[in-house]
Parts: sequence; structure tokens; C-alpha cells
Amino acid sequence: MVVGAGKVAARKIRLLLKVKAEVTVIAPHTSEQVDAIRLTTKIKHMDRLFEPEDVIGYTLIIAATNDAEINRLIASCARQNNIAVNVVDRPHLGTFTIPAVVDRAPIIIAVSTGGASPVLARLLRTHIESLIPSAYGKLASLVRQFRQPVKKQFPLLDDRRRFWERALRGPIVEMVFSGRERDAKQALTDLLVAKEPTFCRGEVYLVGAGPGDPDLLTFRALRLMQQADVVLYDRLVPAPILDLTRHDAEKIYVGKEKSNHSMPQLKINELLASLAKRGKKVLRLKGGDPFIFGRGGEEINDLTTQGIPFQVVPGITAASGCASYAGIPLTHRDYAQSCVFVSGHIQKGLIDLNWELLVQPRQTVVIYMSLVGLPIICSKLIAHGARADTPIALIEQGTTRKQRVHTGSLTTLPEIVESNVVEAPTLVIVGEVVRLHERLSWFPPGLK
Ligand SMILES: C[S@@+](CC[C@H](N)C(=O)[O-])C[C@H]1O[C@@H](n2cnc3c(N)ncnc32)[C@H](O)[C@@H]1O
Repeated sequence: MVVGAGKVAARKIRLLLKVKAEVTVIAPHTSEQVDAIRLTTKIKHMDRLFEPEDVIGYTLIIAATNDAEINRLIASCARQNNIAVNVVDRPHLGTFTIPAVVDRAPIIIAVSTGGASPVLARLLRTHIESLIPSAYGKLASLVRQFRQPVKKQFPLLDDRRRFWERALRGPIVEMVFSGRERDAKQALTDLLVAKEPTFCRGEVYLVGAGPGDPDLLTFRALRLMQQADVVLYDRLVPAPILDLTRHDAEKIYVGKEKSNHSMPQLKINELLASLAKRGKKVLRLKGGDPFIFGRGGEEINDLTTQGIPFQVVPGITAASGCASYAGIPLTHRDYAQSCVFVSGHIQKGLIDLNWELLVQPRQTVVIYMSLVGLPIICSKLIAHGARADTPIALIEQGTTRKQRVHTGSLTTLPEIVESNVVEAPTLVIVGEVVRLHERLSWFPPGLK
């Protein structure tokens, strides 16, 4: 029974409905929030004031009226009848407090501060939410399916414990988290009948590390970074991000500086495969997103032919990271309805791009690897019909505390860049949206 039907009562009603409680609400008036709940769920509503005998027959009562005296009365009636009662914002009056809940059903984690601070409980819950992958519930359900077969196979409790510890510390967990439940089931079955192969194989995680700011990593990236035995990283991965990998993991720099490839691509592909075949969990950490100018497709291609399991974790690509941190929306109702990403890499003195496509109106063009080729890019765009005063920005070391944004036009930017000491990596954005930088710029370099 919930007495009261305001905003807070609505929150409690939702919680109760989630655990399939039958709910009765007593309140002369109901709020919009409670009305919305009543539209989609069956709850009983008595539109009158609370009477002491109302408590009879209920198992749990929540006093959520805005009248302290009535709340006190509800609590005392409930206590006299040995009924669990919670009084909103007055934990000492009730017999229990309502915790903040992390729901990974069938796993439920409750955080309670004993009524001291619901806000603190919520903050702690958010923290726990970020640590516990949303698929934890699926893992628990899988384990439940195997409880009986495992019991049969290992009648002794100690043997069962050892089995589960081994299973739940190994790669099966990651299989479930990455959506490979069928593989996880097979691996558990293999482990149960002591068939090792599928269970002991290594795997490769191709992970996007984002453009530089460690806060832009995904939860999954961070989790895999902390699991891998070996890390292969390149030049675009900054030290603060590398520091988040497991401390005892072997770290191999595979470079890829412009015209100074410290390890040829083929060698990297081979190394990934050979490490995984030795049973290692291999993290291939790449700047930005592995599938955007990252050669991620090539790196996993060899793995598929050799049957080595892998997963790809997207990262925030330089275009969205730099654009956001420079206050330049890549699309905008008034300025650009489309956006293209191209590479400005010079090969044999040429930049091979479809220039006609790039000078279309109401379009933003993002050019990766464009620092050296900037003068060529600007003159080619003008030669293919772009206005000479088209706004253009070059973002240097975007999203990091060294970020600098240089803006100008297709005619002026090459000179502006030339007269500054500019450090790679840099990204170029061309289009009317660049005009918004002055107004929307929010990221103060040097602060992060
Ligand atoms: C080989 S590409 C890799 C792109 C990466 N996979 C991504 O999705 O961002 C390297 C280019 O990305 C751009 N880039 C990457 N990180 C950057 C950053 N923090 N600031 C500016 N440009 C960046 C530069 O244009 C650099 O030359």
C-alpha cells in the first residue's frame, strides 16, 4: 500500500511494480506521474484520506504523503500491526529503508546508507552500474542452467566450487558480455566434460581508444584493457590511456608514424594471430575508432581465416571527438545536412580524392591525415568550385589538454598553420559549420 500519490509516491509505485507487487494507492488526488502509471498498469486506487484500519491485510506500506502528521500516524498504525513500513524522507519513523538498486536480474545489488543520504546511495549506485556490465544478468542465467549438470558431475561441494571459480575467472564471462552466449554455453559444456580446446584459446580485442581524452573510452574498452595479457598499441594512443591497461600486461609498441612504420602491417597481423594462438588475450589498442582509417578490417581479416575469436570495440573517432571539443557541430539544420570523412594522405605527391564530391553545398568535410597536404587540399577545393572564403578549421591534438583550434578560410588557413608550430595529430573540418566555433567553443585547453 502506498499512501500519497505525488511525484515521490510515483517513484515508489514504479519500484514496487517492477518486482510484481500488487499495489493499492490511497490518496484523494493523484499526480500526473501516478495517472501515467495507471494508464499502463493495474493498480488499485482509493480516492480518499487514509484511515488507521486501512493498514490491515497489507504486507508492506509506504507513507508518501506531504503531511508529516499523517505519515507519522501511518507508521505507528503499521508498527502496531507488525507491518513493514517506510516513511519517505523520515527513515527513523519506518521499519526499513528503500535502497538504490542496481538491477542485473536475477542479480540485484542494493545500496543503502541506512537512510543517511539517498543522494549518496544513488551516486554509489551509478558508480557500481558503470563497473558491472549490463550482461551480468545473462551470465547468472547461464550459470543457473548449468547448476544441476555441474552438481551431478561434481558431487563434492569443494570440487563444484573449484569448477565454478575456474569457469567464472576465464573467457566464458567475456563471451557472454560480448553477446556470444552460444560459444559460452559450448565452452561451459566442454569444461564440464573436461574437453579443453575451445575454452583455452586466446582471443583478440580490437579496441578503439578514442581521440585522446581517457574519459572518452567506452566501458567495454576499459574492461578489456584491464583483462588483456598483451597490448599492441600505436602512436595515437596517449600514455594516460595506456596506463589504464593491466599493469603486468606485456606492452608492444607497433608504431605507425608517418613514413616510419615501426612494424609493417603484415607483421602486426601475424603477431596478433600468433599471440592469440599461444592462448593470450591480446588487446590491439588503436586511436579513435578501429574501423575509421584504422586498418582494423585488415587486422582482423587474418584472424577470421585462422578461426581465432575476436571482438571489435568502437571508439570515438577523431572527427566526432575533435568536433565536439572544438564546438563545431558536424551537421546543423541551417548549415550542413551531410558530412563526409576523407583521408588527406599524400601518396606519390598526390592526394587522390573525389574533389567534385567534396565541394557540394550544405556539407561538412572532415579530412584526416591532412596537415602536410593542407595547402594542396585548400587549392584543390577552390579549383573545383569551393568559395575561397569557405570557413575551415584545423584542430590540433583534439580532446587533450594541448588542444588548439586554428580557423580561417580556404585561402588563409594554410598560411596561419604555416606560421604556427603545429603538432600532430591534426584534423581538418571544412564547411559553414566552422563559423559556429566562436560561439559554441566550450573546452578550455589546459584544464583537462
Ligand atoms: C590513421 S588515422 C586514425 C584515425 C582513427 N582511427 C580515428 O578514428 O580517429 C590518424 C589521423 O586521425 C586524426 N586524429 C586522430 N586523433 C586525433 C586528435 N586527437 N586530434 C586531431 N586529429 C586526430 C588525424 O588526422 C590523424 O592524422
